[in-house]
This record gives sequence, structure tokens and C-alpha cells, in this order.
Amino acid sequence: MTYSSLKFCVGSPKVRTMLGGSCEVALLLLLAAFGIVAGTTVRFGALTDDPEDSSALRLAVEYVNENSLVPSVTLQYTENSTSTLAFFDMIRQGCVQASKSIVAVIGPRLSSQVKATSPVSLGLSLPQIAPDATDPTLDNHVYPMLLRMSWPDSVLSLTLVDLVEHFGWDHVSIFISNDDYGTHGLVEFQLIAGQKGWRVHTMQSFDPTEDPADIDVTSQLQVIKNTGARITVLHCLASYAQQVLHRASLLGMTGAGWAWVVSDGITGLNALGGGGNGTVPEYLRGLVGPRPPASNGSHGEAFLQKWSSADPVAYPGAGTDVIGPYTARWADAVLALADALRNATEHSVTITPQPLDCACAGGPSQPWSDGPTMLQFIKQVDTGGVTGPIRFTSAGARADAKYHIVNLREDGWQTVGSWDLQGGLTLLPGAEVRFSGGAAEVVPFVTDLSTRRLRAVTIAAPGFVEVSDADQEGNVLTGNDRFKGFCMDLLAWMSSELGFTYELYAVADGEYGRYRDDTGAWTGMVGDVVGGVRQE
Ligand SMILES: *[C@@H]1O[C@H](CO)[C@@H](O)[C@H](O)[C@H]1NC(C)=O
Ligand SMILES: *[C@@H]1O[C@H](CO)[C@@H](O)[C@H](O)[C@H]1NC(C)=O
Ligand SMILES: *[C@@H]1O[C@H](CO)[C@@H](O)[C@H](O)[C@H]1NC(C)=O
Ligand SMILES: *[C@@H]1O[C@H](CO)[C@@H](O)[C@H](O)[C@H]1NC(C)=O
Repeated sequence: MTYSSLKFCVGSPKVRTMLGGSCEVALLLLLAAFGIVAGTTVRFGALTDDPEDSSALRLAVEYVNENSLVPSVTLQYTENSTSTLAFFDMIRQGCVQASKSIVAVIGPRLSSQVKATSPVSLGLSLPQIAPDATDPTLDNHVYPMLLRMSWPDSVLSLTLVDLVEHFGWDHVSIFISNDDYGTHGLVEFQLIAGQKGWRVHTMQSFDPTEDPADIDVTSQLQVIKNTGARITVLHCLASYAQQVLHRASLLGMTGAGWAWVVSDGITGLNALGGGGNGTVPEYLRGLVGPRPPASNGSHGEAFLQKWSSADPVAYPGAGTDVIGPYTARWADAVLALADALRNATEHSVTITPQPLDCACAGGPSQPWSDGPTMLQFIKQVDTGGVTGPIRFTSAGARADAKYHIVNLREDGWQTVGSWDLQGGLTLLPGAEVRFSGGAAEVVPFVTDLSTRRLRAVTIAAPGFVEVSDADQEGNVLTGNDRFKGFCMDLLAWMSSELGFTYELYAVADGEYGRYRDDTGAWTGMVGDVVGGVRQE
């Protein structure tokens, strides 16, 4: 079908279609009056679970319309909100939205939510833009209708590796949330840590709960504490991190000598930033990690202006002069969609929304014939956004990865450096990073004896170590009670100072120990120490 034949059919020189098909079909679709032509309204769907994201979305749509970013088109949307873990509701609402003739779905927020809803967008050929999802397995080759406004956590992992390396640490523990974000986010980190010969002492996880106060993390933290590694990489959302660190403080793991390297789910939410003026609780101070920029794009300043002058009653979370980097990505998603529509309009490409049916009741769902065209235009977007430039990689993730490196202090997050793919990590000249307890340095591994039970070998030596099986009254003595003397008093004192418990035994051969050339081994107590403690 040629351009002119279509023009003839529909009588409009503006209309061209990139898809095949007959004139009748094109005409029919236009008669349905949903096509993008001057003066029309274009609708998208939105799936949210956070009021602040909703505010960003709504303000971004107003921003697009006020500034005529898609000339002669008014952008509208249908939004449905659910609770965080209500995956089934999200799927159902995605279907309801699709029946309302939308050109794309923006949301949901979490990687797990995006995976749950992606069969809807895939089945209907409906482009889906995920503002916040960072799970690296959400690749466009597996989820063909999906585009992401964030860079994947494989990039985050590179940043965390550079940070840990910068501070000269080679022992870490890992603590993650048991969801798609948590479990896939640090895969790359572990891989590189292994190549570098770092010791990852343990990887612990916890199950996310609808109310973060309900998470159960004490036993995992105890395991981390017992490893002796003092650096913990924590990868979860800020609401959980706050609980994790509070519990950690009760176990004495948030004072000097400890460091918590945290990921963007924690730095990216203002939740932990406090309200300034020393309001950040002591146990949170010292966190360090990468934070994606929030308003570095060409629309950053203007949008922030709109955000800060909005009424927080009507727009929850707005009305402040900061916006979280992940909240701002909801505005980026709207700007990306707007730019794709603008380009399609400029190229006189008709994109005709249709009511789509998920056919949840059985039968095959009917894919949207213009879906692939819409997707193509979104993929080609190259424009300025709120958080930074908007372009996509071939895997459908946001390109141009850049992080600020931030350190949580008594007054909130402080920027101490930056990271990007080309230049790696750069700390600001004179920037001081303060870890837990205000410390400037952390020893990455200490042998912590407080939880250990030691076996100690000894030998009778008058005054220093007396060994006897009965006391002066003739009562039988067993175990450690058989040993007395100055050395034993010293050992008891060390045990109470350092917190270890111990079990004494007398060396079997009664020797201090000497090296025997014929056997090539030590005898006596030295032999037991060199060869490891022998079980009797
Ligand atoms: C989705 O939201 C719309 C309003 O935006 C509402 O009318 C509709 O009932 C919601 N759908 C579901 C399934 O909750
Ligand atoms: C912050 O601290 C300053 C001086 O310490 C004080 O004058 C001001 O009232 C405080 N502001 C808040 C919001 O607590
Ligand atoms: C964001 O913009 C500020 C000011 O223009 C600049 O100093 C900073 O380096 C930028 N940050 C990133 C990560 O690009
Ligand atoms: C606009 O669309 C054209 C045609 O598909 C494409 O070649 C171009 O890269 C797009 N440009 C932008 C900025 O989206």
C-alpha cells in the first residue's frame, strides 16, 4: 500500500501508516476516531502503589500539556493504585485500562510488579514503561514490550564494586530482600568480587512484608555479625533498610568499626534523608552508596519548579524543593511517551488506540496492531528529561548511567562524589566519607571471639597451672575445674573481657613441644596448636 493510495482513501495528506493492511482497515480505524490527529486526546494507563509517584505522574502530564510538548494533542491517563504486593489486582487493572484505548502503560514501580504485569502488555502488544524497575533480567529481549526509565542493577553493581575497592575493603557480607530487585541486583557484584578475590562471607536475605515493621531479620544479622566481616552491602528498599539498620543497632552493628554500603533503593528514596537539623537517627548515619540524579536533565529545573509550588494536599509528597530520583522517573516516563507521540505526529504516522481485550476468560487476546509502531517510537526517543537525558539501550533500559555517591550524615544525604560508565568513581576533592559511628576508616574483617567456643591445651607447671582431679576435700573435679593457677586466672579474665567460652584439656604427651626431624612434625602443645585442636 502506498502513501498516495492511503491518502486517497482517507482524504487526509497528514496520514500515513507504517503497517501493511487494506485501505478499508485504515479507514475503519480512523472512523473509530481514536487516531492521533490535531486536537485529539491521547490516553495512557498508569499502575501505581505510591502517592508520591502519582503526584509526579499527574504534574508531568500537566507539564506536557501546558508546554504543548505534543503539539495539538492533550495527554490524559487512567490511573489505578493498589497496595504494594497486590500483583493480581495490578494485572486485572492493567486489563481494564487496556480496554480503554490507551497507547501505553506506565508502571508499576517494583521489578516484581513489572514481571507480574508484563504478560498483559506482551499479550496485547501494548508498550509498557517501567519508571523504577532495575532488575537486570527485565531485558527487552525477554520482555519485548518493556522499556525502563532506570538503568539496570548490573550497572549499580559496577558502582558498588568501585566503591568497595576505593576504600580498600576485601571482606564483605551481603544482605538482600527476597524479591526480584533484591535477588538479581547484586549478581554482577558477586561475580566481580569473586574475580577480584574478595571474600564474600555470607549472603543473607529477608522476605519483604507489606508493613516493613514486620520484617524478620535478627537471625540473619546475627550470622553477618558472626562472620567477622565488618562491611555489609545492603540491597533493598529504604523502608526495609530503616528496619534492618534499627535491628542492627540493637546488635551493636551500627557503631564505629562497621560500614554499610547501600544501593539505590535506599539512597534513592528521601525517606532516610530526615528533615535536616540532625534529625537522621544515629543508627542510619554513615551509610554510603550510589544515588541516581534526580533533576539533572534539561526539564529538571522547570519540573522541579512545578513540583515545589504544587499543593501537597492535592499532590502528596510535592510542595518541597526536592524530588526523589525514582519519583522523578515517573515524570521521565511521561516525557518519553510525550516525545514519542510528538515524533510520530511530526512524521505524520497514525497511531490508533484500540480497546484491547485481555481475554482473561479464555480465548486468545487480540494484540494491538499499532503497538509495535508505538513501541518503536518510544525506543527511538532522544530527548532531555527531568533526571537526565532520555535514551534507551538495545536492551530497552535507560542509557547514560550516572550516579552521585552519597553519604548519610546527621543532616541528610551528602554528595561526596560521582560515578559514570566511562570515568568510573570520582570522589570530590576534600570530600570526607564518614561511616557508622562517625569513623573515617573501617577495618574490613576482625576476628570476633565473642561468639566462639575455644579449646585450649595446657600443661602442668607449678604455680602457673595446677592440674588435679580432686579438691582438698576429696570431691571429684571435672572439666575446666581441674585446672587452677595463675595462667588459668588470666584465661578466665580474657574470656570475660573478650566474651569467648573455652574448654581446657591437658596435652596428651605431656610435652611443651619440639620439632622432630624424623616425622617432620611438632610434638606437645605446639603440635596441637600447629595441627589444629585434636579431639580426644
Ligand atoms: C481504575 O481506576 C478508575 C479511575 O481511574 C476506576 O474508575 C476503576 O474502577 C479502577 N479499576 C479497578 C479495577 O479498580
Ligand atoms: C534547626 O536548627 C537551628 C539551629 O540549631 C534552629 O534555629 C532551627 O529552629 C532548627 N529547625 C528545625 C526545623 O528544627
Ligand atoms: C548534576 O548537575 C550538577 C549541576 O549541574 C553537576 O554538578 C553534577 O555533576 C551533575 N551530576 C551528575 C551525576 O551528572
Ligand atoms: C523520530 O522518528 C524517526 C522515524 O521513525 C526516527 O528516525 C528518529 O530517530 C526519531 N527521532 C526522535 C528524536 O525520536
